[in-house]
Amino acid sequence: MKKKIAVLPGDGIGREIASGAAAVLEAAGKRFGHEFEIEYADIGGAAIDAHGTPLPDSTLELARNSDAVLLGAVGGPKWDNLPSAERPERGLLAIRKELGLFANLRPIPSFQKLVQSSPLKPEIAGNVNMLIVRELTGGLYFGKPSERRGENKEVVVDTLQYTREEIERIVVKAFEFAAARGGRLTSVDKANVLESSRMWREIVNEKAADYPDVTVDHMYVDAAAMKLISSPGQFDVIVTENLFGDILSDEASMITGSLGMLPSASLSESGFGLYEPVHGSAPDIAGQNKANPLAMILSTALMLKYSLGMREEGEAIERAVQSVLNDGYCTSDLQMEGSTVVGTDKMIELVTARVAEESESS
Ligand code: NAD
Ligand code: IPM
Ligand code: MN
Repeated sequence: MKKKIAVLPGDGIGREIASGAAAVLEAAGKRFGHEFEIEYADIGGAAIDAHGTPLPDSTLELARNSDAVLLGAVGGPKWDNLPSAERPERGLLAIRKELGLFANLRPIPSFQKLVQSSPLKPEIAGNVNMLIVRELTGGLYFGKPSERRGENKEVVVDTLQYTREEIERIVVKAFEFAAARGGRLTSVDKANVLESSRMWREIVNEKAADYPDVTVDHMYVDAAAMKLISSPGQFDVIVTENLFGDILSDEASMITGSLGMLPSASLSESGFGLYEPVHGSAPDIAGQNKANPLAMILSTALMLKYSLGMREEGEAIERAVQSVLNDGYCTSDLQMEGSTVVGTDKMIELVTARVAEESESS
């Protein structure tokens, strides 16, 4: 099968890990007889530097004309003092909005080999398999107005806005995933304070009638932040507002021991997908060959499974990652006693070779 993939490396470590995505795609292509035609384009700070805008029309056009999109990360100190409307992050928000990618899936499993690298006790970190379903194109990130006001511009406004339809579609998506997984859905909100959360809760309760096999509960976001640390094993699927999901997923990454382990899929109503790690451009380690490329590689696996109908291929990549970890290799963000710490390039090479090796033995 021939597929066209847009790869948008972005900034910082995004540029280092994007090559990992390309390498595993090539290995998976050889093994399973597919041709992945990769085309690169700029987004974020790199696009500001080259084109004067964080999301050039040509990048958006390429994304629209591809079967799926892989994205590294955007942002960095070089662009931190730009007005918010011109920052690299605005390019990311714009591509999500333009492509209608309202459903952001952030799976968080326990990686058995990594349990010791979690700051949580092994009995707490060791038995987790949750999915955070984050609303991605509405809420606080996109509310209007968002501005400074007054004579001295010392009054500031951000707005949390949702339409019923926007909440319904993400809630339905989350119910579908819960029904196909462990049958439990936790809706996370702040309904004791926010009107938007009250409508969110109302809609979750309405939709629950269509999914009698799914057990639903509601949790306030502050309590959810606590439960993610005290008893993460209690969660199956979490559905929540854009900003809450952003914060909770970075927190949940510590169950695996590193933010560098979490992939994500952002899907539109038609099923089109953009795949990117949960982490950012990590300016503190950029250019040092230290970044963990596994979140990017696992995002590539999600792309194969969700967007390209290549479940077996995606699982082969996931197995390759597990097998490299099980053999005691890790990057420096993972605290694994007795393991061999390798750089970004070497980790990419190890996983890629494992994908190809399986091919020889199968
Ligand atoms: P970050 O996720 O880039 O980094 C947070 C910490 O985690 C850092 O100490 C970093 O070194 C570490 N880390 C992250 N990914 C890692 C990896 N793969 N391997 C090893 N260590 C890793 O968040 P930040 O420092 O708050 O933000 C830096 C920049 O990235 C900002 O400009 C921010 O806006 C941007 N950002 C972009 C995205 C995205 O493109 N999706 C996501 C988050 C942050
Ligand atoms: C993420 C990032 C982005 C977000 C930023 C860079 C806009 O933190 O993908 O989690 O908040 O959505
Ligand atoms: Mn984030």
